[in-house]
Amino acid sequence: MRMYDIIQKKRDGHELSNDEIKYVVDGYTKGEIPDYQMSAFLMAIYFMKMSSRETTYFTMAMVSSGDILNLSCIDGVKVDKHSSGGVGDKTTLIIAPLVAACGLPVAKMSGRGLGHTGGTIDKVESFPGFNVKLDIDKFIENVNKHKIALVSQTANITPADKKIYALRDVTATIDNISLIASSIMSKKIAAGADAIVLDVKVGSGAFMKSFDDAICLANEMVQIGTSLGRNTIAILSDMDQPLGVAVGNTLEVIEAINTLKGEGPKDLEDLCIELASHMIFAANMTTTVADARNLIVQKLKKGEGLLKLKELVTAQGGDASYVDNPEKFEIAKIKKEVILDNIGYVYKMDTEAIGKAAMILGAGRETKDGIIDLSVGLMVHKKTGDLIMQDEVVVTIYGNDDEKIKQAEDIIKQAYTTGNVEKYKEKLIKAIVTKAEVLRY
Ligand code: URA
Repeated sequence: MRMYDIIQKKRDGHELSNDEIKYVVDGYTKGEIPDYQMSAFLMAIYFMKMSSRETTYFTMAMVSSGDILNLSCIDGVKVDKHSSGGVGDKTTLIIAPLVAACGLPVAKMSGRGLGHTGGTIDKVESFPGFNVKLDIDKFIENVNKHKIALVSQTANITPADKKIYALRDVTATIDNISLIASSIMSKKIAAGADAIVLDVKVGSGAFMKSFDDAICLANEMVQIGTSLGRNTIAILSDMDQPLGVAVGNTLEVIEAINTLKGEGPKDLEDLCIELASHMIFAANMTTTVADARNLIVQKLKKGEGLLKLKELVTAQGGDASYVDNPEKFEIAKIKKEVILDNIGYVYKMDTEAIGKAAMILGAGRETKDGIIDLSVGLMVHKKTGDLIMQDEVVVTIYGNDDEKIKQAEDIIKQAYTTGNVEKYKEKLIKAIVTKAEVLRY
C-alpha cells in the first residue's frame, strides 16, 4: 500500500477500504507517514468527505491506536457525557455529582480548555489541592467507593487523535463533520463508555454555527456510537449566548456550586436536568425519561448533588470547605462594569467573541501549552431577548491587568446587537437525536 495512492483515491472522491484507513491512521501515529502527506489526506477528506462506514472505521482505528480503558470492574452501566464545546459550559461539575448521587457510576475523563471554550479539568483545579492525575487503579477505586472520579485524559488514550487533531488545527481541517465526530467518539469509546449522552452545541459560540450542521454532527456521532454497540443520544442545545452567567474557571465553579444549591441560572439548571435525566435513562435506571427527570430534580432539591461534589473534592485531595464557603475562592482583583452606548433588546450575541474576551483576560489558552489564570472571567448579566435600560451593566469583567480588561471591554461591546422591538428568547433545547429519529423542538 502507498500513501500517495490513498491520497489520490480520496482526492478523486472514492471510498477507502478499512485496510487503507487503518494503514493511514497507524502509519501516521507511528511517524511512518509524514505531516505533508497526512495534511494532503485530511484536506482530501475535507473536500470529498467520508461515508458513514469510513467514519466509523476511522474512529475504530483511532481507538485502537492507544489504551482502551477496561472499566468492567466498576459495577453498573458506565454512561459518559460529552459537550461539543461552548462558552460558560460548566455542566459536568453539576451533572456528574447529580447522577452519581442517584447511584450511577461516573468515571469521568475530561479535557482542558482551548481557545474560546473552557475545560472541566481547569475549572476543578480551582479547588486547592484537587488532584486530576489519579492513576488508573485509584481512579477505579474511587468510582467504586464514591461513584465518582474526575481525571484528565491520560497520554495513552487515542494518541492518533492527539496527533491528527494538532495537524488539523494548523491545516484548516478542523471543521469537517466526519473528522470532528470521529475525534470526539474515539475518545469516549477508548475511555470505556458503555453509553454516551452528547450535548451538541449550536450557535455563535459553538463549533457548529448552523442548526443543520449540528444535526449532521449529532447524526454522525449517534451513528458511530450505535454501530460500535454504544447506546448514544445527542441533545442539541443553544450556544447563541453563553450558558448561565459566569464565564471563566473559578467563577464557573462558584456558579456550579450555586446551581447544586438550587440557586443557579435557570438555563444552566434546565440543561443539566435534561442531560442528567438522559444519562440515568441510558443506564436503564428508570423506565422513562420523565421518571429520570423526577429523580434528578429530587436529588437537586435535597442537596444530594452538592454533598456528592464535596465527597468528590475531598476524595481527590481538594479542600471541600470551599463548597460551603465559596467566598474563599480567589477572584481577580480588578472589577470593571461594561455599559453599552445603545439601549434596547438584545437581538444577537457573538458568543465566540464573549469567549475570546474571557480568553484575553487569561481564562483560556490560545495554544495548548498556554498558562491560564483561574481567577479571571466575566459575569454576563444580559443575554438574548433581555431589555437593556440606560446605564445598565451588561457584563462585569474580573481581571488582573488593565490593558487586557480594556481589550475585553471593547470586544464585549461589539459582541452585542440591540434593537427596539422585543425579541423572542432562544429555545435552550433545540433537538434530540437518537438512532431512530430526530425530534425538533
Ligand atoms: N472536539 C474534539 O475533541 N475534536 C474535534 O475535532 C473537535 C472538537
